[in-house]
Amino acid sequence: MRPLVTLIGAGPGDPELLTLKAARALAAADVVLVDELVNRGCLAHLRSDARIIEVGKRGGCKSTPQDFIEKLLVLYAKENKRVVRLKGGDPFVFGRGGEEVEALRAQGIEVEVIPGITAGTAVPASLGIPVTHRDCARGVTFVTGHTKDGAEPNWRALAASGTTLVIYMGLRNLPQIIAGLKAAGMDAATPACVIENGTLKTQRQRVATLGTLSGDGFAAPALVVIGDVVRFARAATVLKAKAA
Ligand SMILES: C[S@@+](CC[C@H](N)C(=O)[O-])C[C@H]1O[C@@H](n2cnc3c(N)ncnc32)[C@H](O)[C@@H]1O
Repeated sequence: MRPLVTLIGAGPGDPELLTLKAARALAAADVVLVDELVNRGCLAHLRSDARIIEVGKRGGCKSTPQDFIEKLLVLYAKENKRVVRLKGGDPFVFGRGGEEVEALRAQGIEVEVIPGITAGTAVPASLGIPVTHRDCARGVTFVTGHTKDGAEPNWRALAASGTTLVIYMGLRNLPQIIAGLKAAGMDAATPACVIENGTLKTQRQRVATLGTLSGDGFAAPALVVIGDVVRFARAATVLKAKAA
């Protein structure tokens, strides 16, 4: 039998948003390589003798280089260990899951993928924001505000798309993103918000418009949502039952 690695999405933060399938796979794991954004509550599903390897940026340390993570996965899988790679949200949405699958398959290792709930839908939902709506958003676009090569997204095309824009990793470049969308013709009155630590007790948000939104005082992980659907935001009703 070929060695196997299970790539799991841990969901957006609240550990109760982990899927049943993910919980079952965690319970069977011998080794788990965990990213920074994964809520440690998800590790409660592991056996007490499972080995946990932290590979994210924690305690001010640098994150583990991607090729080293891939080498560890290969190493443990070839020792016939039940290996889990646990990532925040969904592993295939801005999660480098595709790169890891490629690297593992190139080494003859089978990969099983267990999707997770991505921050892009769950975090707006925690405020009551539907990312699509028949009356005002015929689609949703997930976009990164921080690219590998520094290239800007095509703001003109995005502004013209009429879709809700959900921007991951957009906090640092928020002023440029807003300027780009306004220059591309998006109305400054378009509802917009920034949400930090979505689905957690520490969640904070600022609901404004494209013209008035600022990320000052917010920190990662934070998501920016732009579009008419943001007017559905109802902070008071959703901040009750958050996980730690
Ligand atoms: C490297 S991406 C990983 C996305 C992840 N794979 C997913 O599907 O949600 C990390 C970014 O996702 C967003 N993010 C993840 N979790 C979040 C949360 N709980 N609240 C707000 N934004 C979050 C932030 O923009 C963060 O910088």
